[in-house]
Amino acid sequence: AGVFQAAITAAPVKITMAGGKETEFWAYNGQLPGPQIEVYEGDTVEITVTNRLPQPTTVHWHGLDVPNDADGNPQDPKEPGQSKTYRFTLPEGSAGTYWYHPHPHNYVSEQVYKGLAGTLIVKAKNDVLAHSEQHWLISNLRLNEDGSIPPNTMLDWMNGREGEFVLINGQYRPKIKLSGNERLRIWNATSARYLRLKIKGVQWIVVGTDGGLLEKPLAPADELFLAPAERVEVFAVGQAQTTAELTSLYYDRRKMMVQEKAADLNLGEVQFTPADAALPAALRTLPALPAPVVKREVVFSEQMKPMQNTQSQGGMQGMDHGAMAGEMAGAMQNTIPQDMVGVFLVNGKTFDMKRVDFVGNEGDVEEWTLANQSHMDHPFHLHGTQFEVLQTSLNGNTAPAPYRARKDTVNLRPGETAVIRFIQGNKGLKMFHCHILEHENLGMMAMLQVK
Ligand code: C2O
Ligand code: CU
Ligand code: CU
Repeated sequence: AGVFQAAITAAPVKITMAGGKETEFWAYNGQLPGPQIEVYEGDTVEITVTNRLPQPTTVHWHGLDVPNDADGNPQDPKEPGQSKTYRFTLPEGSAGTYWYHPHPHNYVSEQVYKGLAGTLIVKAKNDVLAHSEQHWLISNLRLNEDGSIPPNTMLDWMNGREGEFVLINGQYRPKIKLSGNERLRIWNATSARYLRLKIKGVQWIVVGTDGGLLEKPLAPADELFLAPAERVEVFAVGQAQTTAELTSLYYDRRKMMVQEKAADLNLGEVQFTPADAALPAALRTLPALPAPVVKREVVFSEQMKPMQNTQSQGGMQGMDHGAMAGEMAGAMQNTIPQDMVGVFLVNGKTFDMKRVDFVGNEGDVEEWTLANQSHMDHPFHLHGTQFEVLQTSLNGNTAPAPYRARKDTVNLRPGETAVIRFIQGNKGLKMFHCHILEHENLGMMAMLQVK
């Protein structure tokens, strides 16, 4: 096992875009996305992060079980000019597709939409899929006419921000060569955009999820669904060489106060060459999770409240509250009283840095029932562990998970319930929250303390 060392600086960077206009991004080491970190199971990672932003930041290693002081959670902000070395060791079995992004209280949405995010891949020493790889980090960007990045609108705060420019590895509508022999990892690193990826003439064989390989490859599918923060490992299959659009099909996630056109999105062009990837029938064995010793319930909900009485306003940087009220009133077409604002809750409460919501014990098997009692989709994420989804229920239909998989993020449709099971990892504070970053920012987050 080795020691992987790196230095990362989060700082503003000016980049001239295609139209000749200059945009100020916030980036890790000046790169969009940030530098890729590739390490092996057993490695110790030591990454020194320096904050050159005008506001506090942290770096969170999404999906990994790291010591409390390396999680980059909101308890541990670094002020402008400060540095911090994040140190953690990657256990056996942790091979998977992770990412890193900021997690300071109140600033996550802005820091991510301005460009801060990067990939982290943990590789197995004996890899059953030692193919050449291709990586797509999908993000999105909104630009003003003058090339600047606008702050969130009220509707962004309510529904989550979707930038009009969907980027793959920082490129707008790239031309991509893809072989059927390549192991393709895809990250949905957007704040709120749901992806349903499709290429005409090509199918997807899923071999892995957030936390690594499945037990066996899935049957070929026409589309790939990725909620915000989810990752997938796939191989592309098809009969013939083809050049086709990479499309993200429309997904109705029940946004509030907007009438959306059900339009598909063109993300780029893929030149696909079929090849026999010769995938093994078995990829790995996931150890069975014993019966839980603790059961808990997590409920996501939303409420409309008078704006003056909400604490969540503090999370809305750059918003003029008067303008916000006007915008809300217009957007709601008088169906809801003026000066109301959406509040997003976990078990009826908004996030409080000083409140521990659940206390658990290292090594315990826990089973959580996650319920979305709001009117829109929310992707649930829990820090510091990989869980298995056991079953989901929607509209009275309960179904066991179709296959076993390691996940740290699972989407919940309005009215949906999911049962997850996992083993409590390292001691410390673990956030769980909606990964629509505007909702997280506004308080749809709670805290688990592992002792
Ligand atoms: Cu990817 Cu708490 O976040
Ligand atoms: Cu996380
Ligand atoms: Cu949400």
